[in-house]
Amino acid sequence: MADINNSSLMEKITSLCKRRGFVFPSSEIYGGLQGFWDYGPLGAELKNNIKKEWWKKIVYGRDDVVGIDASVIMNPEVWKASGHLDAFTDPLIECKICHQRVRADNEDSIKDHEKSHKEEKIEWTEPKSFNLMTEVFLGVTEPKQKAYLRGEITQGVFVNFQNVVASSRVKIPFGIAQVGKAFRNEITPGNFTFRSREFEQMELEYFVKPDEKESRETFEYFKKLRMEWYVSLGIKSENLRFRDHADDERAHYAKYATDIEYNSPFGWKEFEGIHHRGDYDLKNHKLSFHDNEKGEEYIPWVIETSGGVDRATLFFLLDSYFEEDKRVVLKLHPRIAPYKVAVFPLLANKENLVNKAQDIYHKLKLSMVACWDNRGNIGKRYFAQDEIGTPWCVTVDFQTLEDDMVTIRDRDTAKQERVSVEKLEKWFGDKLTL
Ligand code: GAP
Repeated sequence: MADINNSSLMEKITSLCKRRGFVFPSSEIYGGLQGFWDYGPLGAELKNNIKKEWWKKIVYGRDDVVGIDASVIMNPEVWKASGHLDAFTDPLIECKICHQRVRADNEDSIKDHEKSHKEEKIEWTEPKSFNLMTEVFLGVTEPKQKAYLRGEITQGVFVNFQNVVASSRVKIPFGIAQVGKAFRNEITPGNFTFRSREFEQMELEYFVKPDEKESRETFEYFKKLRMEWYVSLGIKSENLRFRDHADDERAHYAKYATDIEYNSPFGWKEFEGIHHRGDYDLKNHKLSFHDNEKGEEYIPWVIETSGGVDRATLFFLLDSYFEEDKRVVLKLHPRIAPYKVAVFPLLANKENLVNKAQDIYHKLKLSMVACWDNRGNIGKRYFAQDEIGTPWCVTVDFQTLEDDMVTIRDRDTAKQERVSVEKLEKWFGDKLTL
């Protein structure tokens, strides 16, 4: 493994993302827009796979969780009740020389800015709070109705609490899961997709009885479960840690909170937040749970796991990037890799090889995301697939026409194995369920 320093790793990932179609700057032909990104063909696959794996684990893998999909824009009263219009703010300070604003709680940005003024002595204004909610205006005639793009996907779950309870026969403890877009008017978007103004979240709101001991146990249980999920999909455990929030950094809704952090090229950074929200939200929306069997009524407490899909996509890419033997390889877990398999004929100008390989490719495509490649020589095709994280390449050669066996080459070990064509689907299926 070549020694890659942190700033060059970020440059390499950003350039690979653009070159191979993972992530592009949004509306690039018009100069882009700060804090917005578009996912290309491979990025969309990777991101969708992360969301699918999350949903499989959190919703399908459990009997006590149901999923919903709420609207992005809601009645503005929601945000008044949730406290976001008053308290969802970042503290900013302004440089008195050039009037640029930076987050008062971000020492790195402050230092970077001070360096940019070289010898000049900077004075900063007192911190001022700026709200992160993004305003939109609805309707076509004046006065237009002011509303907000959701700053967290969470409130869509709380405002549907009663609908879900009435329609789904769930009983405390139970969870409501959701994946979707959130929007924040971040003052300093940056570090590629890490801090964006439009991003996706994958969240579980888990409702428990209002009990200190039980809710603490549930909190600890979900911390462990979420950490294990990242490791099970290939993030190196030495690059992950928990960090408890100090009293002065907790969000306005949290009783206590712990972040899962990732050791990124720009320092240890928040990957996912695990929050004990107590009864803060349901109480503010004037909602409660009625247990018909026990004849009890109470406001449940909420344990939340809130991960960023874009951060996960970026951190999975960074963690899987290797340079070895002149090749670049993304050692992505096969379940999240954009393509599971690439199929090629040994020679692109031999019709019988091409036909056989096309036949195999079309059959595999029915059960997994496969890609076709007949450009250049085999070595170049392997390198091109390694760079986008394709775990296996299948080559059809002259021997295949005689024994109906193909060569499967493994991305990580570069080892090759002969497998019969009729067993291919099972061979891949077994590996993908690991
Ligand atoms: N519902 C709780 C909530 O929204 P948060 O800690 O503000 O909590 C949760 O956000 C996760 O959403 C973060 O851990 C991060 O992964 C992601 N996230 C938050 N702000 C983001 C941004 N500006 N860009 C990309 N991801 C972001």
